[in-house]
Amino acid sequence: MLKTKICGVEFKNPLMLAAGVLGSSASSLNRVLREGAGGVVTKSFSKEPNKGYKNPTTVGVEGGIINAIGLSSPGVDVFLDELIKVEKEKDQVLIASIYGSDCEEFEFLVDKIQNEVDMIELNISCPHAMGGCGSAIGQDASLTYNIVESAKSNSKVPVVAKLTPNVTDIVEIALSAQNAGADGLTLINSLGPGMKINIDIAYPVLSNKFGGMSGRAIKPIAVQNVYKVFEVVDIPIIGVGGISDFEDVLEFIFAGASGVQIGTSIMNEGIGVFNQINDDLKDFMENRNFGSIDEMVGLAHRV
Ligand SMILES: Cc1cc2nc3c(=O)[nH]c(=O)nc-3n(C[C@H](O)[C@H](O)[C@H](O)COP(=O)(O)O)c2cc1C
Repeated sequence: MLKTKICGVEFKNPLMLAAGVLGSSASSLNRVLREGAGGVVTKSFSKEPNKGYKNPTTVGVEGGIINAIGLSSPGVDVFLDELIKVEKEKDQVLIASIYGSDCEEFEFLVDKIQNEVDMIELNISCPHAMGGCGSAIGQDASLTYNIVESAKSNSKVPVVAKLTPNVTDIVEIALSAQNAGADGLTLINSLGPGMKINIDIAYPVLSNKFGGMSGRAIKPIAVQNVYKVFEVVDIPIIGVGGISDFEDVLEFIFAGASGVQIGTSIMNEGIGVFNQINDDLKDFMENRNFGSIDEMVGLAHRV
């Protein structure tokens, strides 16, 4: 009943681990897969190693957390060794999240990893990336087009573009990604930037001062982005932002998401959240006579 297809790839259920949380090593990805996730997204990685920002890189705030990790990455050669060790069932999906600053880097990364993964997610949306990466790309419709087109140019696996909500009009960026050949979209990366001041020392908490907001507080914004983009695109949407229970998942699905990702709430709820949500989702669908996830996607748009 929970089985579903996204971008032509079979998922045993619509729940995925979001990029950046527990996704740095094969052992943590394997743990999440054993705990019932339909798919896992790796932490974003780049061609060359990147140290990211100094600590502190995360801080708890009202309704979530702010992080400015700065896309720390060991580089693709090290990450490839982890991808090879991921153990999953046939209908569990491994998604690599990659980032870079130009078309050549994205093309290089796609080429290097595509035999080891089922899908690729382009992180063109991180609000605290360094050096022309992340939202520097995803806030510009033509850069988005060029990066997606390059990544797609020699990819054998589906490519989804992860977009930032920190734009004037996400619809324009979503259409640009779709026109460049994206197989799907992930909405949304963290919101902001935001900041937290330590009042004892009258100073910003994060070493980078500003970071992206995630967790419960951003859910209504994420749902609205999914709803708005669903009305104009005809490629699947993966929803993410503030999900912690099955009711949150349903909101995203009814708004138009074919699958969802879960990040911050794992820090509070633990990885048992995947099995819990799957059980609750199944109960809901049985009680309401829904036979498949597909039947529910975008239901909130009916006239
Ligand atoms: C600590 C942390 C690290 C993150 N790292 C990444 C990353 O490497 N790549 C990425 O695309 N998104 C990253 N994100 C964003 C999440 O994947 C997700 O889009 C966002 O947190 C909203 O979902 P959530 O509220 O369920 O966490 C990160 C989020 C957090 C909290």
